[in-house]
Amino acid sequence: MTAQHASARPARRLGTDRFLFGGDYNPEQWPEEVWAQDVALMRRAGVNAATVGVFSWALLEPSEGTYDFGWLDRVLATLHEGGIGVVLATPTASPPPWFTRAHPDAMPVDADGRSLVHGSRDTYAVSAPAYRDACRAIAGELAARYGDHPALIAWHVHNEYGTLDHGEHAAAAFRRWLRRRYGTLEELNRRWYTAFWSQGYSSWEDVLPPRRTQYLANPTHALDFKRFSSDEMLDALREQRDVIRATGSPAPVTTNFMLPSWNHLEQWGWSAELDLVSVDHYLDTTGPDGETHAAYGGDLTRSWAGGGPWLLMEQSSTSSSLPGRRAHKEPDRVVRNSLSYVARGSQGALFFQWRAPLAGSEAWHGGIVPHAGAESRSFRGFEQLGRVLESIAEVAGAPADGPLVLADVAVVWHAEGWWATDTHQLPSDDLDYSATVRAAHRALWQEGFAVDFVAPDADLSRYRLVLVPSMFALGDAAVERLRAHVSGGGHLAVWPFTGYADEHLHVVPGGYPGRLRDLLGVRVEELHPLGAGEQVVLEYGDGELTGTVWSEVVDLDGAEVVARYRGGELDGAPAVTRCATGRGVAHYASTFLVEDSLRRWLRGLCAQAGVSPVVEGCPPLVEVVRRRGARADYLFVLNHSAAAVRVTGPGHDLTTGSEADAGLDVAARGWAVLRIRDGAAPWRVAPAG
Ligand code: GAL
Repeated sequence: MTAQHASARPARRLGTDRFLFGGDYNPEQWPEEVWAQDVALMRRAGVNAATVGVFSWALLEPSEGTYDFGWLDRVLATLHEGGIGVVLATPTASPPPWFTRAHPDAMPVDADGRSLVHGSRDTYAVSAPAYRDACRAIAGELAARYGDHPALIAWHVHNEYGTLDHGEHAAAAFRRWLRRRYGTLEELNRRWYTAFWSQGYSSWEDVLPPRRTQYLANPTHALDFKRFSSDEMLDALREQRDVIRATGSPAPVTTNFMLPSWNHLEQWGWSAELDLVSVDHYLDTTGPDGETHAAYGGDLTRSWAGGGPWLLMEQSSTSSSLPGRRAHKEPDRVVRNSLSYVARGSQGALFFQWRAPLAGSEAWHGGIVPHAGAESRSFRGFEQLGRVLESIAEVAGAPADGPLVLADVAVVWHAEGWWATDTHQLPSDDLDYSATVRAAHRALWQEGFAVDFVAPDADLSRYRLVLVPSMFALGDAAVERLRAHVSGGGHLAVWPFTGYADEHLHVVPGGYPGRLRDLLGVRVEELHPLGAGEQVVLEYGDGELTGTVWSEVVDLDGAEVVARYRGGELDGAPAVTRCATGRGVAHYASTFLVEDSLRRWLRGLCAQAGVSPVVEGCPPLVEVVRRRGARADYLFVLNHSAAAVRVTGPGHDLTTGSEADAGLDVAARGWAVLRIRDGAAPWRVAPAG
């Protein structure tokens, strides 16, 4: 695992102090006469940034080694004349058809052994030397030509790294990676537990990427392949980054992470290699949960960025054609979601995409300019967003030191937890890393707490309360950090099926959760996973809690009981515990609490740990985030509810010019961004009227 590198971010900064507003711009899909109209419309909406060239490889290099930059020269000149900055992409996510013909060996192979070809995007074998050479070449050409272009704001390397390859190039690179990791085949055999099912390797040549096999695959093999793939893609990113830096271009280098329902990157380590962390975030649902999802994306990315600032590189504009993410966004939601990311440290709100295309696979993915054109309700909504972002421009400055958002609670997040849970040969089919972590964050959001995410092996001393909702496998460094956190006086809360194994997925014997048993003061002999839809009831104070997915037989070994199972096979047995160690407390829940129960439990833990909400007593669906700035702190009040609220406190609303001292009404589905005059004075948010 890689520690969080809060201070490792290099000095290259965005070439602007303004919030960026705009998005992916694909002028190559339109006749040149449209470009001038685009710039006029961008100016009308207050757009100041266009991400260009993401999928332009076939135009930039129509045949191997032959470049055509004329059109891109004209695009950049047109944008620059219009005062629009450029985030310039390297086009390496989509090699052109000639590349397949020239380098058939550089095509990716899936786990079934099928070789893929061009015709979509992301079709390359990342370990293939020909692909890597071609990437360095095109990145170098672009950097040499545009590295000091006055419109350039940032370099956008590739697009959403994440294509896994199981072919021969991957096999060779995987073996090199494994030799570095394990040194000898004996060690690999031990760590992969190959004594099981006669899997022992006697030659490195026999080690393959995980490919389709007869029955269940080796889980440690699968996990290591994920680790390797992330490292391999990171090497590819570094190569492009270094080629760009070598030209002397002063612009920061980023690559856009994807915050998805799948995950192939270890983002803590990647973030430390970037000048600027950026993310693409597509809401996975409509309704209020969409707001919690936006907050999740913002908090997670700010944390990867060591406390920020970071950049929201893509969000859907009005509608998306992504399966499962087809939610339509009303104009007011576009503003509130954008402010939610900005409040959490984004240096702007960029969208996919500027103009909705008339054809192609994403013809039904909305744009800032929709198919209906700029004379439309949605475009007027974007004009409004432009005005809002302009009005809060002063928020963009960063404080002299420390993070942009101060949080006392942190949730442990690590891609390896996700990958380990995805090995799927686990005691329950319903263990879901992403959903579990998201549920923890959602409950904290609903209770109004500011939240950070942390790597398990990060320094936790800044936090009063650390949650570990799902880390089935824990390495030594992580265990030490958690232990130090508690002995230093912190509170720790652990969900079930956490710390049951080491980082090689070997179960720690002697009772679960082996790695954390002494810290939590519990010992579990037997697991009782629940069936689909089954729930357990827990006696908790004078009320009850409800759990799902999991239960287990907890023996106390230093901990005290906070809640007991009621009814069923575990009737009367400990279900939720707390264990005081040194000056801190380690809490354990032996079942996955459902939403309301989780909120109650966490509310209690926050109170014990001395953690307060950003503003006490906010009405439901009113989100308040405090962002620190260069000259002041700012309170973002996002009213997602259907009723107006009144905000009272010492501040000035930048979006309307009104004062909040005597109370400021924020309309249903509205917002306010208040410059705080007195940092210590209390704020109140209550129903209006
Ligand atoms: C993103 C991708 C964009 C576009 C968008 C909408 O993940 O970076 O290029 O495809 O999704 O589907």
